[in-house]
Amino acid sequence: MTRADWEKSYVSAESALREAGVNDADLLKLEEVRVRFMGRKGELTELLKSLKDLSIEDKRELGPKAQALKASFDAAIEARRAALEDQGDTAALAADAIDLTLPSVRAPRGRLHPLTTTLHEIARIFQLMGYSWAEGPHVEDERHNFTALNIPENHPARDSQDTFYLQDLPLLLRTHTSPVQVRTMESMRPPLRVVCPGRVFRHEQLDATHSAVFGQVEGLVVDENIGLADLKGHLQTFLQKLLGSATKTRFRPSYFPFTEPSTEVDVKCFFCPGTGCPSCKHTGWIEILGAGVVNPAVLKAVGYDETKWSGFAFGIGVERVAMLLHGVRDLRHFYTNDQRFLKQFDESLL
Ligand code: DAH
Repeated sequence: MTRADWEKSYVSAESALREAGVNDADLLKLEEVRVRFMGRKGELTELLKSLKDLSIEDKRELGPKAQALKASFDAAIEARRAALEDQGDTAALAADAIDLTLPSVRAPRGRLHPLTTTLHEIARIFQLMGYSWAEGPHVEDERHNFTALNIPENHPARDSQDTFYLQDLPLLLRTHTSPVQVRTMESMRPPLRVVCPGRVFRHEQLDATHSAVFGQVEGLVVDENIGLADLKGHLQTFLQKLLGSATKTRFRPSYFPFTEPSTEVDVKCFFCPGTGCPSCKHTGWIEILGAGVVNPAVLKAVGYDETKWSGFAFGIGVERVAMLLHGVRDLRHFYTNDQRFLKQFDESLL
């Protein structure tokens, strides 16, 4: 090939390249163009190959020109390919685009019910005071719910108006958590210190302060030489940890068949400065729990030696404590699961 022929091929390759439409090609077309010029028999390939037919001087002069043409061809092909791939990515992204400006669907965050957090708090304090945890069945027999607790056969609490009896069975729904005292003493030897939380059932009309199903925490301590002073110390410590160290308490004489002596414990009203309001029934005090020194008849009923062992017991109403802690005046709010009510209780508060 003469130099003149080579130069003609060069010019024709150059103009063919210009018209090949690299910048409009899609990926398929681009590959076609590449093969057309740089394939084994491609125009540019041929042009580069035919350099070998030229004289050394011509090669020196025209070789770099040919290389430069190839380099600009390669660069154009690469640039187009990159642009197309970019476009492809953008299109793919657009196809399954997420509109970040749309408001998201909020996953509601669950939290513990205020009665649950109250129960946890009561249990936590007693745990710090060395009490362990015991549970008993909701369905009880008369012996555990009444007889072993020294509640006589003709006691009005046994009346079917207060107690839910199971049909055709000598069983009932427990009316308090005190039967767990009996169960604990039947299965463990003293000394012992337990709290027994759980649900209890009574035939009550639902109103602002009564419910047919509610929570109690029973407490029982049995050891040698345990008396009323221990009861007072434990319960005062508990109430001050629960309600604050400035809490004022009052121990009133009372009566429960399973304790002797018996007491009801009041705390100074939270809702008024002690002057009296509907929440404290205008007395300035709110009853918070029942307690007493375990009646020896109960110790005897579970087979403990009542001359060696003595103890005290108490029963706390969970709803009552939750109402006091949160300033809730109607207990029915706890059962209706109204989100507007429940949302107010941040579990970190307890
Ligand atoms: N069982 C009683 C009730 O439900 C509460 C109670 C009072 C429990 C005195 C006790 C106690 O252990 O000593 O009303």
